[in-house]
Amino acid sequence: MKQFHFTGGRPDPESFPVQGLIDAAADILNERGPELTQYPGDKGYIGLREVASSRFEHREGVPLPVDNIAITSGSMQALSLVMRTFIQPGDTVITEELCYSGTLGLFRHLKANIIGVELDEIDGMDMDALEASLENLASKNIKPKLIYTTSNHQNPTGAILALPRRKRMIELAREYEVMIVEDDCYGDIDFEPKVTPPAICVLDDSDSVIFVATFSKILGPGIRLGYFCAPDRFLGTILDNRWDAGTSALSGFIVAEYFKHNLWNHVNKTNAILKAKRDAVIETFKKYLDGIATWTRPRGGLFIWVKLPETTDMKKLQQLAGEHNIAYSNGQAFHARSEPLKAIRLAYGSLPVDDIREGITLLSQCILDAQT
Ligand SMILES: Cc1ncc(COP(=O)(O)O)c(C=O)c1O
Repeated sequence: MKQFHFTGGRPDPESFPVQGLIDAAADILNERGPELTQYPGDKGYIGLREVASSRFEHREGVPLPVDNIAITSGSMQALSLVMRTFIQPGDTVITEELCYSGTLGLFRHLKANIIGVELDEIDGMDMDALEASLENLASKNIKPKLIYTTSNHQNPTGAILALPRRKRMIELAREYEVMIVEDDCYGDIDFEPKVTPPAICVLDDSDSVIFVATFSKILGPGIRLGYFCAPDRFLGTILDNRWDAGTSALSGFIVAEYFKHNLWNHVNKTNAILKAKRDAVIETFKKYLDGIATWTRPRGGLFIWVKLPETTDMKKLQQLAGEHNIAYSNGQAFHARSEPLKAIRLAYGSLPVDDIREGITLLSQCILDAQT
């Protein structure tokens, strides 16, 4: 029976550049293969740091400083290194009320007190709510360790933190002396030109932002290559926490060699494919659930956030969907306080368009049948 897996933020498998990576691997191994007899070191392969830096420059107009970038095993390792460095059990951290479940899991593992700040699905975290949270914490003599935000095409809502909100976040962070961790996991997966405002780390001039990004979502999470860029005052402390002798230089060699020549060709091509997939989800929902459920129309990224009627029996929905081999992520997994929600997150990157239409048609019927 066919599987309809709308879980996990994965890119399109059909356009994965197999031959391009094979050619890149042959070229770079001929050129630099024996260097793999050495450890890659804490910051990792410089060629890949240069690609990360110019990737950023293409969008932001300024490069990321190559010396402040460290390559990691996916951005999850970057987040883990950063959070483990700064968070002790009982510390308070601030994030969007709906947030990537992996980061929430990490915060919980570190026994952090998570404050979830309201957000809207278009413009991201609400700055009045952030200010109120900071004020409230200050009144109890609590100084949060950091603000974690996914500024572009947020997981799970698809929100893009609006420019005035970015600026206000920086002001508030300065006023309350809190650092910001900016997770740009979905940066560059844009369906409209110039859709994202400047990065928070570009707008900030007080060295208070750690920027985290990845190659997982524009190439593939199996590659396990991400990175962070930290100001000097944080970088050494974070790297002191690192015990793995660096991230695979073999992966780094191949991806850097391929992306040195093909980054934007690849990203533009895959973005067009992802946009068509987003449209397939939305068109199918419109056909079957108009006026019943609501869904976001993300301007990029890999997810659609679907709000279901209050009358939805979430357990029944899960069971009905399971009978058709449909998998999705329950909204509760993304809630900072794990509150049950009548909402689901759909990842549309990895299924072909025809399967998306078929799967969403079936899922729509399950949603209708799960009403009490
Ligand atoms: C917001 C966000 N950050 C980080 C990650 C981790 O991705 P990776 O470790 O593959 O780079 C994800 C994965 O889904 C994510 O959604």
